[in-house]
Amino acid sequence: MSSTIAELERRRDAARMGGGSKRIDAQHAKGRLTARERLAVLLDEGSFEEVDAFVEHNATEFGMAEQRFPGDGVVTGSGTINGRLVYVFAQDFTVFGGSLSERHAQKICKIMDAAMKVGAPVIGLNDSGGARIQEGVASLAGYAEVFQRNVLASGVVPQLSLIMGPCAGGAVYSPAMTDFIFMVKDSSYMFVTGPDVVKTVTNEVVTQEELGGAITHTTKSSVADLAFENDIDALLGAREFFDFLPLSNRVPVPERPTEDAWDRTEDSLDTLIPPSANQPYDMHELIRKVADEGDFFELQPAHAGNIIIGFCRIEGRTVGVVANQPMVLAGVLDINSSKKAARFVRFCDAFEIPLLTFVDVPGFLPGVGQEHNGIIKHGAKLLFAYAEATVPKITVITRKAYGGAYDVMASKHLRGDLNYAWPTAEIAVMGAKGAVEIIFRKDIGDADAIAQRTKEYEERFANPFVAASMGFIDDVIQPRETRRKVALGLRKLRDKQLENPWKKHDNIPL
Ligand code: COA
Repeated sequence: MSSTIAELERRRDAARMGGGSKRIDAQHAKGRLTARERLAVLLDEGSFEEVDAFVEHNATEFGMAEQRFPGDGVVTGSGTINGRLVYVFAQDFTVFGGSLSERHAQKICKIMDAAMKVGAPVIGLNDSGGARIQEGVASLAGYAEVFQRNVLASGVVPQLSLIMGPCAGGAVYSPAMTDFIFMVKDSSYMFVTGPDVVKTVTNEVVTQEELGGAITHTTKSSVADLAFENDIDALLGAREFFDFLPLSNRVPVPERPTEDAWDRTEDSLDTLIPPSANQPYDMHELIRKVADEGDFFELQPAHAGNIIIGFCRIEGRTVGVVANQPMVLAGVLDINSSKKAARFVRFCDAFEIPLLTFVDVPGFLPGVGQEHNGIIKHGAKLLFAYAEATVPKITVITRKAYGGAYDVMASKHLRGDLNYAWPTAEIAVMGAKGAVEIIFRKDIGDADAIAQRTKEYEERFANPFVAASMGFIDDVIQPRETRRKVALGLRKLRDKQLENPWKKHDNIPL
């Protein structure tokens, strides 16, 4: 081997070693994989093409001139996941704690720019001690360059963040602006200020995990979408998830062959709705019975369970599902569920993913807390998101569709393309009991009269036919034929064209 070729190999080997075997061992001892090991799990075997492996930092102060590691704490490049192109960066904790220097940021920016140019998603694996302290403002500038690209890429290419170690301070805002965040339990955390600062400022005592661990962010704050047991699970989860995503806003949703018949009937759905209106049932059952092969990738399952969001496929093509969940808070819309579904609807609309909405909603959640915390503004988010969405929208009302919540849930009035109802649907201003107590207030106390009025109201309104007689429901369908109707609808709507009036951008209530 000539000496120049040997030199290349020597340099590559040095880059592969990151911060050295001692630090690699320390990373493993924490139950974490190294940046390169993570990429090997995430990407198809042998598909990773690294760039900038020889980039080094340009700092000289604090003895930095003597400490140089090729790659500078982040491994960047592109590869494939099940054959489809993706750009990736993986922060390498073994080099200066994965901290972000000016050059480290430049590397991330380079692959983000490339991804936007060619139209491919970006997946970031975050594991970093934050801004490279020795570089000061140059490092902060690096963050801002990444933030700017996160914003420009938003709605152009899907962006997914996997938090696999520390992510604190300003570092949180890059993942925060990506479309989805996956975290690893007991191993990753995200916070703007850590437990020590919190203690100093507010006197609250809290652990890292409680303040910003995977469970906290997937249950309470909703900052993250999913929590995984370990690195491998998170990376395999990301692969599965990636298969649902279009590569960019310029290309259609991915399509994959399915054996599942498009017109499969599901007789069991005819008895899904319990006899009593107050009895819950699991909306997941309907989603899985309609989806290809029962496959549903749910997001944020542990937060605002009263609404379900996620991806499935119909005839092999990705569909975004939003569904009220009667098992949790009777499927009511509240602040958290509105915010959760609104962002998902906007993601789907940005990437031309059709929306399938299953409705069983008794209205908005009453309460001082809800009002004082802005249910008006937050509920408006979901309404706004559905109203501006121009993707194919198919809605199936299974049971309750009451009040303003009826309007919100992809109703005909918000340009729903196909609005179906099951015979069990009740489309009304409110439930019969509440309605009677208002319009027949004088009869309160007369149990017989109230019962009679309630029966009358139920007969008149607790059905889908009033709405159907006005054309607000396109058809009342048998539950068992839901998949067939949805599949046919999506076929019809494949080339749907609808544009909103020109504007710089809208002003969704934030
Ligand atoms: N800048 C430069 N180097 C950093 C760094 C940073 N922000 N964060 C970590 N490092 C280095 C450490 O000096 C250490 O170097 P060494 O291997 O040469 O000893 C290495 O990364 C590993 O850090 P260590 O503290 O040993 O790891 P840990 O797992 O015990 O702790 C953190 C991880 C992130 C909690 C801790 O490193 C930390 O608090 N870092 C600073 C966070 C911060 O304030 N960032 C700046 C503002 S955003």
